[in-house]
Amino acid sequence: MPFKRPLSSHTSDDESLFSHDQHSKRVCSGSPWNIGEEKPLLVYILQAKIHPETMSELAALVENYTIERVDSQRNQGPGVVSKLNLELTGDVKKANIIVTAIKMRQRLERHIDWRIAKTKAIVTPSWLRDSVKSGQPLSCGNYVAVHNLEDEALQHCPDTVQDISSSSSIHLPSPEKESSWQTEPDEPIDATEAESLSCNAKYSCLRPSPLVCPNQGLVKEIDIIRRSRHIEGEDRSMLSYSRAISVIKAYPHVITEHNLHDLHELPFLGEKVLSMIEEFLKTGRITEAQKFLADPRFQSLSAFITIHGIGPHSARRLYDLGLRTLEELERYYEVIPGLSDEETMSLLEAESSANTEAAVEKSIKIGLALRHDLSQTIPCEEVEEINRTVMRELSHVQKGCKNVIAGGYRRGKPQSNDVDIVITHTDWKIGSQKVKGLCRKLVQRLHEQGFVTHVMHLSGFHEHNVLRTRHWDSLEKALTVFVWPHNPSRQRIYRRVDLIFAAPEVFWTAVVGWTGSTMFQRDLRLWAKQQKGMKFDSSGISRRHDSRLYYPRTERDVFKVLGLLYVHPTLRNADA
Ligand code: UTP
Ligand code: MN
Repeated sequence: MPFKRPLSSHTSDDESLFSHDQHSKRVCSGSPWNIGEEKPLLVYILQAKIHPETMSELAALVENYTIERVDSQRNQGPGVVSKLNLELTGDVKKANIIVTAIKMRQRLERHIDWRIAKTKAIVTPSWLRDSVKSGQPLSCGNYVAVHNLEDEALQHCPDTVQDISSSSSIHLPSPEKESSWQTEPDEPIDATEAESLSCNAKYSCLRPSPLVCPNQGLVKEIDIIRRSRHIEGEDRSMLSYSRAISVIKAYPHVITEHNLHDLHELPFLGEKVLSMIEEFLKTGRITEAQKFLADPRFQSLSAFITIHGIGPHSARRLYDLGLRTLEELERYYEVIPGLSDEETMSLLEAESSANTEAAVEKSIKIGLALRHDLSQTIPCEEVEEINRTVMRELSHVQKGCKNVIAGGYRRGKPQSNDVDIVITHTDWKIGSQKVKGLCRKLVQRLHEQGFVTHVMHLSGFHEHNVLRTRHWDSLEKALTVFVWPHNPSRQRIYRRVDLIFAAPEVFWTAVVGWTGSTMFQRDLRLWAKQQKGMKFDSSGISRRHDSRLYYPRTERDVFKVLGLLYVHPTLRNADA
């Protein structure tokens, strides 16, 4: 992978963040964002609608096939060359073939610009499986993914393409933005930018971390151990596992016995984790993780912390009282299961308090009563619909606002646990005044219109005023429960919706913070502090020594101010 330093402003101290020797470069080379020298067939696998396990399987097909091919060439001598040379790419424009489970044009267009789609062969995952099986790129006719693109799939199918490189150089003007209001999560990844990130950097904000990595099964297994540390309050150990996970997330190859030793070049993979990886390679499991899964205490505590308001500490306290199941918790908190409770848990009761014990207990009760709904994930289409509704209602309260849907949705998750909407006013000068108090007003309006039934937490400028700096004055947030008003044609599922109001000066900082992932954000903060003498969090960026505040105008500016290369939101998935 061509190595590029993040920005010229680095001091010599930064050198230690990267390993420059040849071997380390090889460890991270051939990444999905890297283009090989011998013109391989570049495969872009569109994650949407593909199950994470299938995603790993497909990525492994490409990766393993390359390894197998190299091995067989070595064994058979130079005369024998396979006709199939595959490599993953994260850049749709460069892809020679696109593998997707999507069938509808409309759906595909959310991820790939139609003009680009028309220049590609877009096929089903079976094309990849069958081509690998037969050792050559098969004709695309039987594998066309999107009906409207049948002709194009046949025309651009790599079975007929003579010079693969010719199709990779399509240069299209960047698509017109429909509206400057929204930042599309599907904006294609800039390959040059992605290639400049480094998988063995020490901070996850310098590494490219896809939503689903080639070793997703391993990551999930280690995550069980991380979760066990979390619920037991062993935070240091938890953080070590979080770091190990985030490093594996950015490793672009399927880990096998052949490349296991390369992992020693990566940061934060200690002996213990390495031996777990080895066990996973041999058996497909990690004994310690399996032990936790079968442990009744782990099961109870894990279930408890799914309820909003119950953290690991409270979960252990409840467990010590002898409570084991969520049904028992319901009885303990005197919650009537399934009761939707607009009547019993009124908005006004909860709204005045932020973190008082009574407010927390109220949010636990809401979480318990609605847990069957709240545990269901939200498809991205509904996330978008909720956002449209919220913004429409907001326009009745205040004109001229703009917003970004942050959270997992923005990182490309097809299903989210909640909706995170960051909102500001478009007027740079007076926007901060315009958004003041707006959070409460919007929540009130959404409640009156029947969309918001509960508020689990509401906090505003005034509550952070202890420090009396703008930095802390700049965010208002409401953690709400949203539901579609009664309608016979629509299932009524309660959803968690977080509304975050930011002054224009800190809007993009808030967007970056709320886009996550948690580990990515944590490392942004650490990077800012350790490498730049700055303070970063969702509510602002400041310089430590003189408290100077920075007001980035765009999301890219946030990265620039912090002396970082821009990382595309879909490459910020540094958690499991
Ligand atoms: P979420 O908990 O909503 O997670 O926090 P998620 O990544 O969107 O995934 P889902 O919702 O479980 O599908 C989103 C991001 O917002 C930041 C965290 O960095 C987190 O990664 N965050 C969250 C804050 O900055 N402050 C908060 O109080 C909560
Ligand atoms: Mn979220």
